[in-house]
Amino acid sequence: MNLKTSVHMLEFPQHGDERGHLVIVEGAQDIPFDIKRIFYIYGSDACVVRGQHANLRSEFVLINVAGKSKVRVKDGLGNEAVFSLNRPHTGIYLPRMVWKDMYDFSADSVLLVLASEHYDPDEYIRDYDHFEKIVAEKVKAGEIQL
Ligand code: TYD
Repeated sequence: MNLKTSVHMLEFPQHGDERGHLVIVEGAQDIPFDIKRIFYIYGSDACVVRGQHANLRSEFVLINVAGKSKVRVKDGLGNEAVFSLNRPHTGIYLPRMVWKDMYDFSADSVLLVLASEHYDPDEYIRDYDHFEKIVAEKVKAGEIQL
């Protein structure tokens, strides 16, 4: 997996007029999956680090609909990248099997998350060493391409 090509920013259609802004996100159109779940995170202090997991099956799109935050992604093979989420009409696409840490939340941050799967705690990998082991196994099995 190449973080630079698999994890990427998305820009959503905006319909602004004198009444304000309206941003549209349609499942399977503006993002590459059907949306099965949404959740949102707010009230996180600047010093908090959230996420700290990878997912076996879920894909996500993260949108800071207000305020800003950052997300650090890791592929378990030594590569990492940091993205700033600070515009309500942009989001970041995270495929499955990417380690993610969300941090640097502004006081007004509202981080909206769209997910491709219903919540299943069993598909969350919350230990980084375990994540690296699973990545190595998937590389060996040809399920993750280098
Ligand atoms: P957690 O995964 O730690 O949040 P984040 O990754 O955003 O830091 O989830 C916090 C709690 O909420 C945890 O007890 C699991 C629960 N939860 C659900 O029940 N359903 C969900 O869709 C999510 C994302 C979390």
